[in-house]
Amino acid sequence: MVELADRIFATVKDNGQRGAPLYLRLKKTIEDAVQRGIIGPGDALPSERDIAIKADISRVTVRKAVQDLVKGGVLIQRHGSGTFVAPRVDRVEQSLSRLTSFTEDMARRGMAARSEWLDRGIYPPSPDEMMVLGLSAKELVARVSRLRIADGTPLAIERASLPTAALPDPEAVTSSLYLELEKTGNRPVRAVQRISAANLGEADARLLDVPAGSASLRIERISYLATGRVIEFTRSIYRGDAYDFVAELRLGGSETTGDSQ
Ligand code: GLP
Repeated sequence: MVELADRIFATVKDNGQRGAPLYLRLKKTIEDAVQRGIIGPGDALPSERDIAIKADISRVTVRKAVQDLVKGGVLIQRHGSGTFVAPRVDRVEQSLSRLTSFTEDMARRGMAARSEWLDRGIYPPSPDEMMVLGLSAKELVARVSRLRIADGTPLAIERASLPTAALPDPEAVTSSLYLELEKTGNRPVRAVQRISAANLGEADARLLDVPAGSASLRIERISYLATGRVIEFTRSIYRGDAYDFVAELRLGGSETTGDSQ
């Protein structure tokens, strides 16, 4: 890294961006080095002091550039151990027309899915849960909240709520919620999904291993049984840098989807 640092950082003042503030020039130098693979995911950056010396600029300037790159997700800072090039995540392409489970989606891609439990149990329902699941205040709701991980990379946080009639024991869910529902004939056959953009708050960003404020996709799925009964109300947060949602569109026809629930 020492030789590398000499080479990369010595070019900062001369990287073709004459007139641009120095911190922007340093930022571009680092971004270019990452893009061209000169420094790769997981590589440590020299200390702020070393970069300042090699590039012949002030430490304040270095700090500003590094902080910008951390915010942008190019670099990550680990307390006490330094600054590193952020791990690269292969984007997952997800069809919007099939009602599949996370476990199935990942298996189809040859990825190993696992979950970390954030919460599971039986609770009095919130007003939202009562409304969507059609529960009265006297009934209870089953909640299953998980961090969904594929091949070691956290991809999404999913908070699912179900009527206890469909999931009397949330502890019974091991790897797949849909697998568990299938066992009792409660696997949904139809769902409506609403997707919106949001920036991640501190706690969710920490779980997903990305900087606070990063882009994310908020997805709400309401799933139905063949009888029309709502069986699942899931609020998910997907990493914006890891997912592409793909929808197939066809011309015309009398079929409608979307708001027609
Ligand atoms: C997807 C959906 C969720 C659903 C989950 C079930 O990720 N967005 O609404 O609850 O799949 O996945 P699994 O059966 O792997 O637990």
